[in-house]
Parts: sequence; structure tokens; C-alpha cells
Amino acid sequence: MTAVYPGSFDPATYGHIDIIERASRLVDRLVVAVLNNTAKQPIFSVDERLEMLQETCNGIKNIEFAAFSGLLIDFARDCKANAIIRGLRAVSDFEYEFQMALTNKILDDEIETLFISTSAQYAYLSSSIVKEVATFGGCVESMVPDVIGERLLQKIKTRK
Ligand code: PNS
Repeated sequence: MTAVYPGSFDPATYGHIDIIERASRLVDRLVVAVLNNTAKQPIFSVDERLEMLQETCNGIKNIEFAAFSGLLIDFARDCKANAIIRGLRAVSDFEYEFQMALTNKILDDEIETLFISTSAQYAYLSSSIVKEVATFGGCVESMVPDVIGERLLQKIKTRK
């Protein structure tokens, strides 16, 4: 079975990495797909986001990394994926995730969306929270791997 795990990953957090590790144990091939969306004005370029993901997940054998733009379902089809993986943190995620899952199902009935619930210690965590904490000088050690935290600080410094 092939699954796509899509996201903005701007930057990837321990929550994302936890889902990647757990999803990779369930499927034969996991494609971690970074959305290339200029409208969202990400802090990291797609290449930087891919690089950080690769660095932090380099022990996992059955994963690939790719960028995609346009519709996720088209990308998933190109990958010959059977499923799309999404992490669920809280009830507040559900409405948007459910809408996306139903939309993708309408677009391609053969590709299922599978939800993996977050590990409890990461339920509060999001890329936006990490960026906000880092921007105001807070410690993000428990939120992202060191390599990502360092690059984030660097990025914030050069932006000021
Ligand atoms: O990490 P994110 O930002 O919550 O990921 C959202 C993502 C990338 C999965 C979503 O925005 C997406 O799939 N975008 C591609 C456009 C698309 O396919 N839209 C239709 C499905 S609602």
C-alpha cells in the first residue's frame, strides 16, 4: 500500500515527525508531500522544508519526499497512492479535515483518507505555534528537532 502524507510543513514539528514514523510502519511506501503554495507565504521555501524533513526522517526506509502544487488528489493519483494520511489533534481540526476528506473522496473515490490521532504530548503543537514562540524568543526545544529550531532562529534573525 502506498500513502501520501501531505502538508505545509512550515516547518515540520515533532507532531508531524511522529505521524510520519507511525504512518511509515503501516504502509509499504509513504510519500511525504510538501505543498508548494505561494499564496500561503511560508517562512521556509519548499526546498528548505524538504531538506529539513529529509534530515529529520533519514532513518526511515520506506519514505520518499516530494513537492506538489495544484490538487492533492492529482498528486496522490500520480503517486499511485491508495490513501492520504492526515493527523488529527483536536475536535477543532475535525471540521476542516472532514471537509477535505469528503472533497477528495468526491474527486477520486478510490483514494481513502486515513486519520491518525496525534500522540497526546503533541496535541497542542502546530507549525504556527512554533513560529510564534520562536519569533518572540521562546524555547522551541520540545516542539521541533534541533536542526529545525536552529534554522528557524536563523530565518527569524535574517527577517528582522
Ligand atoms: O499542513 P496543512 O497546511 O494543514 O496541509 C493542508 C493541505 C496541503 C493538505 C491542503 O491545503 C491541500 O491538500 N492543498 C492542495 C489543494 C487541494 O487539493 N485542495 C482540495 C482539497 S480540500
